[in-house]
Amino acid sequence: MQKITLNVYRFDPDLDQEPYWKSYELPGREGVTVLEVLFEVLEHHDGSLAFRYSCREAICGACAMYINGSHRLACKTQVSHLGRVLWVSPLPHMRVIKDLVVDMDPFFEKYKLIKPYLLSNSKPPEKERYQSPDERRYIDEMISCILCGSCYSSCPSVWTGEHYLGPAALMWAYRFTADGRDEGDAERLNLTAQEGGLWRCHTIFNCTEACPKNINLTHSIQQLKKKAAARVLGGK
Ligand code: F3S
Repeated sequence: MQKITLNVYRFDPDLDQEPYWKSYELPGREGVTVLEVLFEVLEHHDGSLAFRYSCREAICGACAMYINGSHRLACKTQVSHLGRVLWVSPLPHMRVIKDLVVDMDPFFEKYKLIKPYLLSNSKPPEKERYQSPDERRYIDEMISCILCGSCYSSCPSVWTGEHYLGPAALMWAYRFTADGRDEGDAERLNLTAQEGGLWRCHTIFNCTEACPKNINLTHSIQQLKKKAAARVLGGK
């Protein structure tokens, strides 16, 4: 098979004045993912290349990167779908720690702010908190979020407002308010309707386009806005 050219964004803040691209000529092979190609560089060409990964099956979100102009998971992206020239860089608009590794702390801090767990003040039931199959189906798409940060990295409201909660945190807030077992509506709506909250979403849709799990985050945020507005107007 023909060779491929892998261009990787490199930056080590301890050594480099500024980022640069480094190219590697690698043998083309069938069925190889971008993550495997990065491992080939790490193991045979340059042991200093830094990148994150964990599950290798698109459920941990660790290997989200910007690959040939799109947000993608390196473990799920087949090189054969990208052509002979690859451009791999870290998630845009996030602080680079080294090479392809970005600082995810602001993203997870905001996620924690919305209390991403069931809230309840009532006495626990004897057996279980029942959820019907229909109720579960309604939140199915949202709970497939793997917190990879692609949506956050793609959102112009995040780029321009450091306190904006961002699409993932808001989507998760809606996921819990839409869960019949949760009793934290008022608390979560208070948290998300603040300055830097859901009204900073300008329905740009980048988050939905960037999501490697095909989640319509924009829809969830709009549903959350409806709930917040209904509450202010004295509705449900
Ligand atoms: Fe940003 Fe998505 Fe809203 S891109 S502005 S969170 S629709």
